[in-house]
Amino acid sequence: MKPFCRDTWVEVDLDAIRANVETFRRHLPESTGIIAVVKADGYGHGAVRVGEEALASGADSLAVAMLDEAIVLREAGVQAPILVLGFTPARSVEIASRLKVQLTAYNSEWITQANALLEQANLESIGLHIKVDTGMGRLGVRTQEELMQVVTAVEQSSKLDWSGIFTHFACADEPDTTHVRRQHETFQTLLQSLRDAGKKLPMIHCCNTAAAIAFPEWGYDSIRLGIGLYGLYPSPYMKERKDVSLVPALSLKTRIAHVKTATQPMTISYGATYCAQPGEQVATLPIGYADGFSRLLSNSGEVLYNGSRSPIIGKVCMDQIMVRLEQGTGQPGDEIVLYGKSGDEEISLDEVAARIGTINYEVPCMLNYRIPRVYFRNQEEVDVFHPLTMKQVAQKTVNN
Ligand SMILES: Cc1ncc(COP(=O)(O)O)c(C=O)c1O
Repeated sequence: MKPFCRDTWVEVDLDAIRANVETFRRHLPESTGIIAVVKADGYGHGAVRVGEEALASGADSLAVAMLDEAIVLREAGVQAPILVLGFTPARSVEIASRLKVQLTAYNSEWITQANALLEQANLESIGLHIKVDTGMGRLGVRTQEELMQVVTAVEQSSKLDWSGIFTHFACADEPDTTHVRRQHETFQTLLQSLRDAGKKLPMIHCCNTAAAIAFPEWGYDSIRLGIGLYGLYPSPYMKERKDVSLVPALSLKTRIAHVKTATQPMTISYGATYCAQPGEQVATLPIGYADGFSRLLSNSGEVLYNGSRSPIIGKVCMDQIMVRLEQGTGQPGDEIVLYGKSGDEEISLDEVAARIGTINYEVPCMLNYRIPRVYFRNQEEVDVFHPLTMKQVAQKTVNN
């Protein structure tokens, strides 16, 4: 029995994940590794399944934004190295040590505190990657002095191993390369200052998807592959460049819950912002903004039915939307593609992003725990994960 009842689901093509990793493997120098970035539940695709597929396809390790995401991966049995890219409160280093998760550091007080906690608890050392801010203005040391202080603090600690040094680019996906080149030069200068001080450098990494596409020669020891892993380009400009050919992995599908044909003018949804005219065939679909299907698609988005487009009519509700079927006669249970391909038509995540005024990254990230994820390999269903019912099962066990 399927672990979900609702007629709305995400399909993730694991072959696409594999193909995208292999594409980057071919694009990069052989000595450059791949850290698969599976934060935000694998950009909405499911961190565990995508992470496992990426590792099986040639990625060397995984990265997440926060320690809680690393816990989920370890609890699912992932044994590969995992790096937390964001801030981790020092009080959580014990968990990182027990789970053998590497953390990001950029502050010597934090390093001293974290080391003391690990010493007190007599735990194993953890690997640290030092973050350098070369022009993102988010996390990281900015000057040679700060960097030297942090490196010295790590070297003096007994429980922290200096495992990596990295920076993050702000504008690598743009045609104007001035900012990214300046960031890279700053990074190089800081690395050189460490070499000049006699430091042996650990793993070096700076490229996200965009930089890995545009500057594969800046790969150093590894790239951090996020959006490209999922078959999406970091920006319309990067897509146009055609340096690499990526395969989108995610589709969003549903089935018609109800169909009616207007016999007289009939208003649709909250606010009665759309009025169906006699003869219009209106289908109700079981998806809404509480699933992460943006309300900005009200009276604006489209869906695919039998390979042709049907407009979303009226406001997107919390759990439902209405569409006008333009082709054929719809029946309850008929499949509708919300994102992805149907026949020769496709509603790409790029199209949805443009329609709602955001970037493609945000569109799959919005799809939340209410939507089951169904995984395919060789066009066959190989796995299903439903975050919502998993949560309920866990709660039941606790209550009993
Ligand atoms: C520090 C860091 N590295 C790498 C990535 C992956 O970036 P992208 O998805 O553009 O490849 C991210 C994502 O935002 C990030 O925050």
